[in-house]
Amino acid sequence: MEQATLPQPRTARARKLPPGSRVPAVAQAVRYSRDPLGFLSGQQRRYGDIFTVRFPFFGQIVYVAHPDLVKVVFTGAPSVFHAGEANATVLEPALGPHSVLTLDDEPHMRQRTLLLPPFHGERISRYEELITAMPRREMESWPVGEPSPLRPHTQRITLAVIMRAVFGVHDEERLARFERLIDDFARRVGVITSFPMLRRNFPGSPWPRFLHSRAALDEFLYEEIRLRRAEPGHEERDDVLSLLLSARDEDGEAMSDQELRDEMVTVLGAGHETTATGLAWAVERLVRNPAVLAKLRESLAAGEDEYLNATVKETLRARPVIVDVARKLKAPATIGGYELAAGQFVLPAIAALHYRDDLFPEPEEFRPERFLDGKADNYAWIPFGGGVRRCIGAAFAEYEMRTILREFVERAELRAVDQKPERVKVRNITLAPAKGTRVVLERRLA
Ligand code: HEM
Repeated sequence: MEQATLPQPRTARARKLPPGSRVPAVAQAVRYSRDPLGFLSGQQRRYGDIFTVRFPFFGQIVYVAHPDLVKVVFTGAPSVFHAGEANATVLEPALGPHSVLTLDDEPHMRQRTLLLPPFHGERISRYEELITAMPRREMESWPVGEPSPLRPHTQRITLAVIMRAVFGVHDEERLARFERLIDDFARRVGVITSFPMLRRNFPGSPWPRFLHSRAALDEFLYEEIRLRRAEPGHEERDDVLSLLLSARDEDGEAMSDQELRDEMVTVLGAGHETTATGLAWAVERLVRNPAVLAKLRESLAAGEDEYLNATVKETLRARPVIVDVARKLKAPATIGGYELAAGQFVLPAIAALHYRDDLFPEPEEFRPERFLDGKADNYAWIPFGGGVRRCIGAAFAEYEMRTILREFVERAELRAVDQKPERVKVRNITLAPAKGTRVVLERRLA
């Protein structure tokens, strides 16, 4: 990876916000939602390393798009750069007040410390058999020779993985009930997170239906927690829920049922759509870059993993599933020469960084070779955010993407339906391929 040119130091301290478009907030929001990647990288090219965007409801947002400035945000005092408060604006109705995503300061660190061990590297590899089995089973239902979208399959696979590996549910009847509840909840949550003004009752409001589906999911989760607590020997199980039931903080305190519920919904929400979308993008890029696909197949046949790892990293660079991460200032802070006031939202613009040609030459090209040395700069390649808020499931997600992608490549011959890249579509808070990665399964290879 190349070294970025340094942001120009500003001589006079400015109290005004960084530069940005004068287009009305609604028009900026429309442009953002139509093409988030193009919008953010376009703003960076036009206004520089730090710029301001106006959105309805959220107001003026400052974006940073240079590794040095991203570092300032990610390594700044967590008590000043509040991510929980910023996330809660969007996510609290779904995740609850005890979620690691919506908390800040000590309560955040407590939950984070309890959640980290189950997602640690060596624990993850225990799930290999389980993760490998899911795509094998799912691929049997793919139609041969006709175009169909891949994303529903990747979504079912990652959901199946999370229900088993994270929740430890294996009973087929309970799994089916759980899947229906998650499906219903996922369908109702998007509009509530995207439009805070809809979070109240009025004729035709989606709010009561959302509350109803959340209550149904919660009832299942509390029942699962109760059953698991009562299960003899649950301490021996290695799913994440069982591990969390046994986890103790430094004062020897266990997690309450409400904390467990909020963390389970957080892991479910943060962990399955994101990984499913990442996988769909990996295939969308691969089938449009046959030379890369051929190289990946060859390297896997030779028993090598480096190119697979680099392909996953390059997918998350070229199509970051999450386009930006939010922090809300609790005290004034100077970033890139601008004195920003308390209350200001500051967002590292993931998409803009990933498309800087001084960091990633010819950024439009899908080129896993960029990551063949296995390294990715913590402040330039940031699909998982960073600092004390870096995604807890990053290692799990990359491992899962590698394992499932290997199955796809080794067992199926896939081709694109058309050569035009799929448009990026905002789906809940993720960026998904607009047509769900339409592919043709030419033939099964194993
Ligand atoms: C490709 C898949 C994934 C992507 C792109 C992704 C991305 C992200 C991003 C951008 C953040 C915010 C980081 C920040 O604010 O700096 C985050 C946080 C988080 N993610 Fe992921 N994630 C993925 C998969 C997962 C998985 C599989 C899990 C769990 C099984 C997970 C659990 C979490 C949690 C718990 C947080 C909150 C961390 C905190 O606030 O301390 N994610 N993720």
